[in-house]
Amino acid sequence: MKTEKLCIIIKPGFEKKEKEIVARLSKYGKITKRQVMLLNDAILADHYAEHVGKEFYENLCQYMKSGPVVVFQLEGGEGCVKQVRKETGATRNPEVGTIRHDFGIGDTTRNVIHASDSPEAGIIECNRMFRDAKKYGVKILSSEKERTC
Ligand code: CMP
Repeated sequence: MKTEKLCIIIKPGFEKKEKEIVARLSKYGKITKRQVMLLNDAILADHYAEHVGKEFYENLCQYMKSGPVVVFQLEGGEGCVKQVRKETGATRNPEVGTIRHDFGIGDTTRNVIHASDSPEAGIIECNRMFRDAKKYGVKILSSEKERTC
């Protein structure tokens, strides 16, 4: 069976919603890695490379560095990325029933979670956040790299 992988980031200030967010995401796959970390400019510049220079970029980085983030590797079958992205909701005006709507505060930047937008991005982002995190000099507060549920 073809498998897909996503990198999920619970953004600063929303870590108390982890249990409820995981309950929703677990419908689509299995969390195989979990790490709590403090991001820095170097890793954000690569993670948000497509947004560097946009008017919201500085504000986005300040926010993403403002507190711990919970990062997951979620693995599921074919279509998992699409399903999780639907459950996540849109960046702007997310629909009722989505994670960004139901746990959100109506702020486009502080929009609860990040979820990889393709299986290819999922592999790159998971490698960056788990395998390469130390190279970026980020602070890892706790790590579970062999998680089975
Ligand atoms: P995310 O899906 O993690 O990826 C890019 C992030 O940039 C997005 O969530 C928001 O947090 C932020 N973002 C995207 N567009 C805007 C915008 N127009 N204004 C403010 N923040 C934005």
